[in-house]
Amino acid sequence: MNEEDLEGIARLEGELFGAEAWSRGLLAAELEVSRGPWADRRYVVVESDEAHGADTGGQRATLLGYAGLYHARGLAGADLLTIATVPAARRRGLASLMLTELVGTARWAGCPEVLLEVRQSNEAAQRLYVRHGFVAIARRRRYYRAPPEDAVVMRLMLRPRPGPVGMSEISEASSG
Ligand SMILES: CC(C)(COP(=O)(O)OP(=O)(O)OC[C@H]1O[C@@H](n2cnc3c(N)ncnc32)[C@H](O)[C@@H]1OP(=O)(O)O)[C@@H](O)C(=O)NCCC(=O)NCCS
Repeated sequence: MNEEDLEGIARLEGELFGAEAWSRGLLAAELEVSRGPWADRRYVVVESDEAHGADTGGQRATLLGYAGLYHARGLAGADLLTIATVPAARRRGLASLMLTELVGTARWAGCPEVLLEVRQSNEAAQRLYVRHGFVAIARRRRYYRAPPEDAVVMRLMLRPRPGPVGMSEISEASSG
């Protein structure tokens, strides 16, 4: 994602998320902290390489989807911050592509897990996440405001949690 994408993303945010849409300013701030040696998040876009319109001379690509992940540089669990595909390009595997890419980023950073929140009624997104190995682990009551709705918290484990101290010695002793 870069500055040229922000206008299209802000427009799409408004169409898809209404009152909860991220503003262009917030998107720009997010993009800013996704750069440089201290970056703790990553944003990606999927674009078509078809001509955008007559006035572009075919130079600019059309935005098809975008997604972002907070990875804390591996110091904590990652959070999927946003993911969306334009309505006309859905069910073609684009969100899967972006999710695979960002889960790869979390893994590369050393995050133990990826967490996300999703509206309870958003079955399409929940199916996408289940397909990628996420499991529902909790519900946050009235997490969303406009309109009010519970969030389902989902988690993808990237590496096993360490067991209680001494567990590995016990299992080694019993197997040997
Ligand atoms: C959810 C969303 C990102 C999915 O994007 P997409 O590019 O269509 O997803 P993909 O094509 O990669 O779908 C991958 C899998 O997810 C599941 N899936 C996606 N959309 C689905 C739908 N409408 N109904 C049922 N399952 C769906 C399917 O298992 C699908 O695989 P399949 O097409 O082989 O059956 C898209 O619908 C969207 O942008 N919604 C609005 C924004 C949003 O809700 N974002 C999530 C916020 S938590």
